[in-house]
Amino acid sequence: MLPEQPDILWTFVTIIFSLFSLFVFANVIQHCRTKAGANTTLWGAVFGTGLIINLLLTNHMFDLNQQEQLGFISWQVMAVFLTLLTWGVFFKGEQIEDQSPPLIRAAFFYSTISILLAGYTNWLPQQRSDPPPKAAPVDVSNLTMEKYVEIGDVIVFGKERVAGSKAIGKGQCPLCHTFDPGDNIGRCPNLFGVEERSHTRVKEDRYLNEPIKVGETDGATGIVKGKADQIPEDYRRNDPSEFTGEDYLRESLMCPSCYVVKGYGKDGDTKSPMPVISKPPISLGKFELNAVIAWLQAKDTPGEFGAVTIPLPGPDDIGGGEKKEEKEEGEGPLFVTGAEPIDVMINKLGCPLCHTIPGIEGATGELGPKLHEKINAPKRIKDPNYKGTAKSGRDYVRESILNPNAYIVFNEEAGEPYPEGVMPQDFANKLSVNALDKLVDFISNTQPEG
Ligand code: HEC
Ligand code: HEC
Repeated sequence: MLPEQPDILWTFVTIIFSLFSLFVFANVIQHCRTKAGANTTLWGAVFGTGLIINLLLTNHMFDLNQQEQLGFISWQVMAVFLTLLTWGVFFKGEQIEDQSPPLIRAAFFYSTISILLAGYTNWLPQQRSDPPPKAAPVDVSNLTMEKYVEIGDVIVFGKERVAGSKAIGKGQCPLCHTFDPGDNIGRCPNLFGVEERSHTRVKEDRYLNEPIKVGETDGATGIVKGKADQIPEDYRRNDPSEFTGEDYLRESLMCPSCYVVKGYGKDGDTKSPMPVISKPPISLGKFELNAVIAWLQAKDTPGEFGAVTIPLPGPDDIGGGEKKEEKEEGEGPLFVTGAEPIDVMINKLGCPLCHTIPGIEGATGELGPKLHEKINAPKRIKDPNYKGTAKSGRDYVRESILNPNAYIVFNEEAGEPYPEGVMPQDFANKLSVNALDKLVDFISNTQPEG
């Protein structure tokens, strides 16, 4: 974001431009004085006007913020360039070209300024793209467990739960998980009762040995499985003596592949399709991650916080984690207008958490098919089992986004269909007409890289 004030360099340049036209004006008058027969009034008027225009432009520049200055400076560059040209005409018209070395100096002046401007403009975006200052952090001095759990709830579901649409917060958990008894959408475990499970899991044989043994390091995240004292320092508890249910939950979020719930993984349950919650794109810091764990521990016993073992955070616990960009934290329902760049749009909608999408950095999700729709879409329509209404690849992609259950893709690797109902059914509510067109354009042209 560009600041709301004028920029020092542009202000300096605009003053120099005015001084320069003053210099030209004085120079012309001086030449007119020394040369008999020169039309002082005419040239004085011409260059006087030039000077006044530049002064007015300079005056206006002071009222602009940096971004507006950036656009407006080109007018003044033009005015200065015209002054230069007219200056040349003056020397020529008065037949005193031989006295025009200032013109050479001027040309030098002009190109120097141009180079400076070009350099500065190049440097500008890097300098100006500093993230905006962070909003004041939560006041931890009077935080109660009830409030902390509520912060976790907002990270999971967002600030405003909207009727009829899956509410999803920064943590993106409801994209995949359900939380109420009996509510099952297939490929991701229902998180009802996970607090209770967390205590027994860590003693199971399967936990101790699969897919890696306790004490071994997970290749993808570098996290040592099942060792409370080896949890990355940023996230470690104060007394890491034994591996508790809390640690299991933390590990589930920070190292999903350390233990894969039976039947929910890839490659024979050795690899979890769940994103690492402390890394991009979700990137929860310690404060947030612990709030989510506190919420997981408390959610099955409303109003009761006895099961929560997470300590209340202190002032030092705010922040941490790999912060990428600041996400909107459930400030109202998620909606993309189509004005966003395509990668921003796709990341906002959460597609990369489930899909690998060529051309979108970090889109390596594994819950759904790889999006190679330039090839896949025409193939799907020809499938005898296809019951949708699409006639073209673009139609098919549009249908897949608006009505994912119109056709359920068969997972060749697993030898079974992808689970129905995992892909959110409510993208129609989250996309403007333009955004949908833009998304369909992009997705229908995806193909394997290389
Ligand atoms: C892209 C889909 C996806 C997202 C988003 C996701 N998960 Fe998961 N999660 C899974 C899958 C699949 C599993 C099962 C495989 C495994 O054990 O890692 C799982 C497993 C878990 C487990 C272990 C459950 C058990 O019974 O032991 C917990 C706890 C969990 N997720 C919590 C969360 C939380 C909290 C969030 C949000 C911050 C979240 N997940 C976001 C897909 C997802
Ligand atoms: C929670 C996980 C999840 C999210 C988020 C998700 N999808 Fe899907 N998607 C799936 C699954 C699972 C399938 C396969 C089952 C089916 O056909 O419905 C699928 C299928 C598709 C297909 C059909 C692919 C083919 O090869 O036929 C397209 C296209 C698609 N998704 C696009 C998107 C787009 C675009 C987004 C973001 C706006 C998105 N998905 C978000 C899980 C997800």
